[in-house]
Amino acid sequence: MSLKIQAALFDLDGVLTSTTEQHFQAWQMKIKEVFNVDVDPKYETLTRGVSRVESLRILLNAVNIQADEQTIQTIAHEKNELYKELIEHFDESHLLEGVTELLQLLKRKGIKCALCSASKNGPTLLKALKIEDYFDLVIDPSSGPGKPDPYLFLEAARRLNVEPQACIGFEDAISGVKAIQSAGMFAIGVGFEPLDFADVHVYSLTKIDAAFLEGLTREDHGVPPQTLIHDDHSSFEQLKVDETLFALSNGVIGFKGSFAEGYGKDDLPQTFINGFYNFIPYHYEENSIHFPQVGQTMVNVLDGSAMHVFVNQHPVDLTHCRLVSLHREYRLHEGCTQRVAVYEIEKNHIITIKEERLVSRSTPHLIVMSLNIESNHQHDELLIKSMIRLPQVKQGSSMDPRLAKSISHLEFVSSNLHEEGATLRAKTMASHLECEIGMTHSHKGNYRLENESVVAEFKTTLHQAFHLTKYVVLKASHLDEEVSCLSLLSDLQPYSYYKTIQRFDFHSFVSAHRVMTSREDINLALHFNLTHLYGSGGVHPHIQIGAKGISGEGYEGHYFWDTEIYMLPFFALTHPTQAKNLLAYRHHTLGFAKEEARKLGVNRGAKIPWRTINGQEASPYYPAGSAQVHINSDIAYAINQVYVLTHDDHFMKTIGFELMVETAIFLLDYGHFNETGFHLDGVTGPDEYTAIVNDNAYTNKMAQFHFNRVVHFAQRPEYRVLFEHIGYTQDDLDELKKAADHMYFMIDKQHHVLAQDSTFLSKKVLDLTTIPKDKRPMLLHYHPLFIYKHQVLKQADTILGCVLLPLEDQEVFKNSLHYYLNITTHDSSLSKAIYGIAAYRLREDTLGQEAFEDILKIDLKNARHHTQHGLHLANIGGSYLLVMYGLFGLVINEDVSFHPQPLTTFEFVSSRIQIQGQWLDLRLEREMFSLRSEVLMSVRVGQDTIKLIPNTWTMVKVSKP
Ligand code: BG6
Ligand code: MG
Repeated sequence: MSLKIQAALFDLDGVLTSTTEQHFQAWQMKIKEVFNVDVDPKYETLTRGVSRVESLRILLNAVNIQADEQTIQTIAHEKNELYKELIEHFDESHLLEGVTELLQLLKRKGIKCALCSASKNGPTLLKALKIEDYFDLVIDPSSGPGKPDPYLFLEAARRLNVEPQACIGFEDAISGVKAIQSAGMFAIGVGFEPLDFADVHVYSLTKIDAAFLEGLTREDHGVPPQTLIHDDHSSFEQLKVDETLFALSNGVIGFKGSFAEGYGKDDLPQTFINGFYNFIPYHYEENSIHFPQVGQTMVNVLDGSAMHVFVNQHPVDLTHCRLVSLHREYRLHEGCTQRVAVYEIEKNHIITIKEERLVSRSTPHLIVMSLNIESNHQHDELLIKSMIRLPQVKQGSSMDPRLAKSISHLEFVSSNLHEEGATLRAKTMASHLECEIGMTHSHKGNYRLENESVVAEFKTTLHQAFHLTKYVVLKASHLDEEVSCLSLLSDLQPYSYYKTIQRFDFHSFVSAHRVMTSREDINLALHFNLTHLYGSGGVHPHIQIGAKGISGEGYEGHYFWDTEIYMLPFFALTHPTQAKNLLAYRHHTLGFAKEEARKLGVNRGAKIPWRTINGQEASPYYPAGSAQVHINSDIAYAINQVYVLTHDDHFMKTIGFELMVETAIFLLDYGHFNETGFHLDGVTGPDEYTAIVNDNAYTNKMAQFHFNRVVHFAQRPEYRVLFEHIGYTQDDLDELKKAADHMYFMIDKQHHVLAQDSTFLSKKVLDLTTIPKDKRPMLLHYHPLFIYKHQVLKQADTILGCVLLPLEDQEVFKNSLHYYLNITTHDSSLSKAIYGIAAYRLREDTLGQEAFEDILKIDLKNARHHTQHGLHLANIGGSYLLVMYGLFGLVINEDVSFHPQPLTTFEFVSSRIQIQGQWLDLRLEREMFSLRSEVLMSVRVGQDTIKLIPNTWTMVKVSKP
């Protein structure tokens, strides 16, 4: 979809003004007068867009009256006289909603307008409605064949001297839409009866605004469409995994890819609202008031996914029928999924269910499900039971800390039934958050309350296909929303409108990152990852991104450091507003972070919780949780990245700097000086197989950078004032500087590596060959003490520090990579991306490539066997980092710089990022690195600063070291 719109062609009746009633009334009166016959109103639609005489022929035919040509001409003429009387009083108040605004917009954009009405009264009406000046041309309907012939529209294009492909047409009648489409133009259906054939349909022209037109005219971004296709229905386990892979999300709602018709048994459809949680009790045998006393868990909210199908009272699902075939598609470039399930309900009786879904980006409360049902038999009795209900609850519990507890969290509050739809309200039992769900359908249903569910039934005899669209709206109290689901339901547009807008949105999303490599399989995997990442959060300043995004309940839906270190760079480089929202969440919850600092015995500053939803620490196991004080610097690191990429001082002054300062002060007071320097003791680094140590190199490296950045900002007077305003003094700044300058690190003499912490390298090395495959991940099979006393890593730790804050000494970097890689289990999905980046940077491409291929399989191939509980969002972000930090060697610290190495494992890799609001295109081919921007820009590549000439590729030879 990339139109260069030069002309807008309008139908009149039903688009600009509503004369349908007057036309039809005039026909009814005339036919009654002449033939004494009443014409049923149901024939009205047949005359829309049809010429005067033709309309009369159609109506007479419908009521079985024959008339000669002379009579027809006379009645037609008299009808018109009567019609003119009926519209005599028409003026601008009779314009339909949105017409004037749209005409003005088109004028401003220099888009020509023409009237292509079948009505000969066109010019008179344009004048009466006072819009004639907007029209460059009125086509005379008698000059050629009428609609559905494309003549009127083609003639307009010809006379306006524009190509048909550069025209959009507005129509309220099927004959008109067909005419526009056969003219090769883009057809916009208008009015309350959705026209299936239109390219897009809107109830009112108010929806055709500047953003919409821009969407239509978007330039091609050169990235081929990516579609994930699955045909596998071999096992129930695979279906559960596919529920995650085919989950849809928009940053607020996460809607898993269950089947509308259900599975017949063991259904557990899941829908999440980001940040909507319940409290769960924590029980410690040895409690401390400093431990979190309650946990938080993301709640499976009210369910709107069910549309159960019965044919001749026989349930159609995979338990009660034979599933003949299943085909699923995730159209990553359109933001929607499609599924075709073919069932045999009895011998040779085939029912095909086709389902399309989207979770709207533009209308963040909305889920649309569109069901199409076909039978190979005639006269099947079809019943669809569509529901909104309390969520189904799964039984059983698990020892696996990565999985969520399974208990009921919601209780019914109320329901509200209407002719056109229904709503249901529930609240969490302990946290007292409320959520509301509403549904309506494309067909009139009958809505009734059944226990605590609302059921809407649709019955029909199946001749051809039956099509039913369900609109589900969801809202929740924690997002401070005013609107009620009922008002959301009354404000809906037809499905095709949301589909079109969704396509626009995903077009912009792909345009913003344009990640491509020479490998198609890798492109699909990367686009799959980025689509999920994009949908996971960053759209609201009070919520963030969980370890599983909103694609599953794993890790209780908690937000960790994963967001800032692994995911945020994607947003910062392509959608900076979303990146700022992610950090705004940390600022919004800063009060809790200060309280947490006090619990850890530090009287100043803030300690970001290790895992949380509402901002309160929810980690019940402090050695691998609260002790990871590096999270403070991780957030500061991300703030700095956003600032360096945007130079947004407003963000910095209202959100970023205060967070950076409070988190730094905590670390300053948590640590201490002695004769060897500044130390952070009693901490856990990113590697959770090593806990409560002194001087974790990653933590110290990050804190050093963190402190230096605070000092750097505070050199500017306005930040200096802010620093004091937050409550700190010159002495504190001096201390931060001193701590940064004297931060303690140890280079091990024997191995010539950066020591992970003060005792790590003296521990016993765990021979990983002695750990059988079925004893992985180790955290589920070994006591923590066994793990902690060994040199064994769950994930990249020191190497992550070296990736984020590159070492000068490449030899130490190389030695460290191999030393730590050898003792890493990669039991954490956060591990391999980082080692891969390090490998690419050190020109160990085979190693880098291996990591790349591995991490792309984690979810798509369910390599870790728990993708059913949600996607591994940090790993997903890691795959993007592998491209940016690894292949392009991007570093965003004091400034933005690229350090690419010659590419050996791909023919090319390309991408696009945003720096200070300007796009920068990147392409690496073998030994050639090319950059292009639309404006004059200087970019650092290695040690050189390259000046880019606008819109021209600048090539830099990538040197071999
Ligand atoms: C179309 C109307 O715009 O014009 C039709 O939808 C009508 O219902 C046709 O028959 C011809 O109109 P008129 O004004 O020329 O009689
Ligand atoms: Mg019309």
